[in-house]
Amino acid sequence: MSSDTGDAAGRPRQGPPPIRIRRRTLLLGAGALTTIGAASYWLTEGQPPNPGAAFTTPLRIPPLLQSDVLDGERVFRLVAQAGDTELVPGTRFATMGFNGTYLGPTIRARRGERVRIHVTNDLTVPTTAHWHGMILPATQDGTPHQSIIPSQTWTAAWQIDQPASTLWYHPHPHGQTELQVGRGMAGLFLLDDDSSPDLPSDYGVDDIPLIIQDIAVSSGGGSPGTPVTSPIGRIGNTVIVNGTHEPRFEASTNLVRLRILNASAARCYNLELSTKDAFHLVGTDGGLLPSPEPLTRLLLSPAERAEIVVKLAPDADLVLRSVPHELGMSRGDNIASGAEDTLGILRIAGPRTAPARSVPISLPSSALPQRANALIERHFTLGDTTINGEKMDMTRIDTVVAAGSTEVWTIENSSNRAHNFHIHGARFAVHTVNGDVPAGPLRGPKDTVFIPRGETLELIVPFSSFADPATPYMYHCHLLWHEDQGMMAQYVVADGGLATGPSHDGAGRHH
Ligand code: C2O
Ligand code: CU
Ligand code: CU
Repeated sequence: MSSDTGDAAGRPRQGPPPIRIRRRTLLLGAGALTTIGAASYWLTEGQPPNPGAAFTTPLRIPPLLQSDVLDGERVFRLVAQAGDTELVPGTRFATMGFNGTYLGPTIRARRGERVRIHVTNDLTVPTTAHWHGMILPATQDGTPHQSIIPSQTWTAAWQIDQPASTLWYHPHPHGQTELQVGRGMAGLFLLDDDSSPDLPSDYGVDDIPLIIQDIAVSSGGGSPGTPVTSPIGRIGNTVIVNGTHEPRFEASTNLVRLRILNASAARCYNLELSTKDAFHLVGTDGGLLPSPEPLTRLLLSPAERAEIVVKLAPDADLVLRSVPHELGMSRGDNIASGAEDTLGILRIAGPRTAPARSVPISLPSSALPQRANALIERHFTLGDTTINGEKMDMTRIDTVVAAGSTEVWTIENSSNRAHNFHIHGARFAVHTVNGDVPAGPLRGPKDTVFIPRGETLELIVPFSSFADPATPYMYHCHLLWHEDQGMMAQYVVADGGLATGPSHDGAGRHH
């Protein structure tokens, strides 16, 4: 998406909707996602009853990235660039994006295809391009080990071999991920396969991507470079979706599929419809569920994705919003982390017509990894910014897994903070949450999972067959400030039964 021209005179657009309760003018900060003009923002106290009810700006849809097929490969080109973008009417921000100054185009490919992606770095700082959720060789994963220095082009190539899903891509430079993702370097990577679920699937028409970021339209936090004011990182006070402030989507069909990515650095969203009606969760990070799961609330932590289907009554006018939730920390920490905010995300207008299409009974989901196939168990303890007491060291391999094997990873959050946990190169199943069978949203394939303070999750993790003892994959907290603080570790996939580590709690325990 490219920079938007805004008001030629550079004046902030006036005419606040009635629910905007206060306006503030601010000075430039030294931070990265800095405002370049006057701005307004939501206050969290004195909640209006339905933030979002007056949203009017047409939702932007990230364009599909064009590709060429050359020698049997689908070839894509991305250019990382910086600029400034009018994310909020009248307010320009220093931003970064791919093929534009904010966010990136949607990449789409099919299972079985070979893809080749050229990534050129037009920034003034090193970056990387990581394919979050992709099962691929570690050398192609776009981690800090595949740094792209300014003006260089890095190329990743692999064969897509995993189920249809909503993945995404973003930079992963060592210690700088929050800044680059927070400024807007994020795009969707949609995978298709030969199954044809009875779901809306016309991109931008009834199959709608929603990339949610929170930005700081004040000096109060949210900008990389400003002080961190919450235990989970910088929290913005204004939500933008696909780069659209106060977006409205006018649906032309009564059934709409939303592919939601929380691309925020730290903020979690507890999604509900303003009608309080149920929506159906049809997919999680790694693909479809076996059947649609009716929900009225869904918590999405950073980097998680959810595909939901919303059924619209004739002339519906409703809001997808985020409502207060429990992050498991002290009340003060929850408030500082935005957990008590009510935020409009997207206003959705329904068509005139009566519902013609309904939510399917079942979905062509792929099998989840099974506990019975997992031979090795490992335990990981999350500290405030550590994993098993250690911080990321790019020269240290923390864990060695056997190619093609499945393991049980128990993740225990014994810190004072909320975290989540992401494993590169794997699609895992959540086996238990505090010993119990997980609830609906955790029944699907995952690559990132929220772990509140005091909780312990058992994950069944199948590893790739791409043995490479020299090149690690990462696992880490995806709250980006924590990640940048070093809450990350590395594993390699080795041939044969060579599984070892994590070094700090001995070799993997066999059972
Ligand atoms: Cu979203 Cu290590 O990545
Ligand atoms: Cu990842
Ligand atoms: Cu964390």
